[in-house]
Amino acid sequence: MTLFRNTKLKPEIAVPLYQQIYDHLRIAIVEGQLRQGAKLPSTRALADELGVSRNTILNAYDQLAAEGYLEHIVRKGTFVTQFLPEDFMAPSQSVSRIEHVGRSHRLSKRTDAVLSAPRMPVPSYPPTKEIIALPVGIPALDAFPFDVWAKLMSRHAHGLHPSALNYAQLVGYRPLREAIAEHVIVTRHVNCTPEQVFIVAGTQGALHLTAQVLLNPGDSVWVEDPGYPNARNALLAAGARLVSVPVDGEGIMVDTGIARAPRARMAYVTPSHQFPLGMTLSLKRRFAILDWAKRANAYILEDDYDGEYRFDGHPLAALQGLDNHDSVIYMGTFSKVLFPALRLGYLIVPTALIDAFLAMRCSIGVGLPRLEQTVLAEFIADGHFTRHIRRMRTLYAERRSALLDAASDLPLELEAPHTGLHLIGWLAAGVNDRAAAKCAAEHGVDVVPVSKLAIEAMPRGGLVLGYGAVNQQEIEEGVRRLSAALRAVYE
Ligand SMILES: Cc1ncc(COP(=O)(O)O)c(C=O)c1O
Repeated sequence: MTLFRNTKLKPEIAVPLYQQIYDHLRIAIVEGQLRQGAKLPSTRALADELGVSRNTILNAYDQLAAEGYLEHIVRKGTFVTQFLPEDFMAPSQSVSRIEHVGRSHRLSKRTDAVLSAPRMPVPSYPPTKEIIALPVGIPALDAFPFDVWAKLMSRHAHGLHPSALNYAQLVGYRPLREAIAEHVIVTRHVNCTPEQVFIVAGTQGALHLTAQVLLNPGDSVWVEDPGYPNARNALLAAGARLVSVPVDGEGIMVDTGIARAPRARMAYVTPSHQFPLGMTLSLKRRFAILDWAKRANAYILEDDYDGEYRFDGHPLAALQGLDNHDSVIYMGTFSKVLFPALRLGYLIVPTALIDAFLAMRCSIGVGLPRLEQTVLAEFIADGHFTRHIRRMRTLYAERRSALLDAASDLPLELEAPHTGLHLIGWLAAGVNDRAAAKCAAEHGVDVVPVSKLAIEAMPRGGLVLGYGAVNQQEIEEGVRRLSAALRAVYE
């Protein structure tokens, strides 16, 4: 064997002999001195040649075989493999070796449905000179107490007990579940115990989990129209058949829902603050939808995404608190009260469904990151959460007034409920809201046309104007640009 002719093994160095042989052979293979398919000497022959034990050679060969450089063929010997690991690892070579023939990918029907459905536009934030967004659904990130948050993060990151590093508690960090239960009982009149609270990845995580637990493909689900596209898409992702149900001044039109799909399996609703139009579901309709759910054996998915923000008196109680038939699955999120990148929300399920939700939760993911949950639990326990909500209520009331003042001369009919983080500006009959939003973007202000959130054609176009995330100057500048855009549209 000529391979080792000029090479001497060095027993005196720290590298074991088998590894020196391994290194030598690997380089010979990679550099082509040992060609693909070439036969290697038997372990006995090479051991004799190098004056080492047969085991040393065996170890080197086995390592190279395990890594894919050699293959042992029974009764024939050991050979250099045809396809070396480097062929797959070097990017330039792997691209040339793996030909991407034009296969047609077969997507699930549910993916096809989601792919062709509209999504909620991701608002641009923060405002720049070029573009000011009056963004929908973004809270006042400039007013969040990040110093307090950062201190808690740092303290807990340094002080995490080893038990906190294990797989996360499946349903969520217990003290956080307790804090949430207390919060929603007191402020939203929700009826629950901490055992019913699941920590989820925002409303989106809540919707996905609930849809997996309660829906079969093809089941009908009422959705408010106009409504929240991302909720519709989570339902589509579970194979649901969406039934559009219009809203009027009292919220979702329950009679129309019953006429269109009396046996629907579920209804997705935003009772405290209809998204995007902003009305609250009247008491009469609350009882009507609960009654329907009871008779149809259906579920109501209550999305209480910004129920904390009401500027004229106390926030309205949640629908869940009126339910005496385990019909309501309640969802809350920290995206609006804290910040959306936190990706934490909660789901409150009837006690009888806890095991089903647990089992499905386990199949989707084993809990959520622990550090943020610990910090959030303490943020709530120390009173920062309540203080922040109180401060934000005042701030949003001011920003809402600033927008109403600035926009009072616009050719829009403003509809501004005393709740939430946005209002609606209705356009004159016949004016296309998508064209108006496009023109606004050309003038440097981003707004969402209501029709983009609707399934059926709207009788009138409108613009959703968010005020939560922008300060007074930004609101005034945004409205100035919108005014110029609307002048061009109405000309
Ligand atoms: C109707 C509605 N629900 C929920 C959310 C929040 O979703 P998430 O908790 O997934 O951030 C939003 C955000 O815009 C919303 O508009």
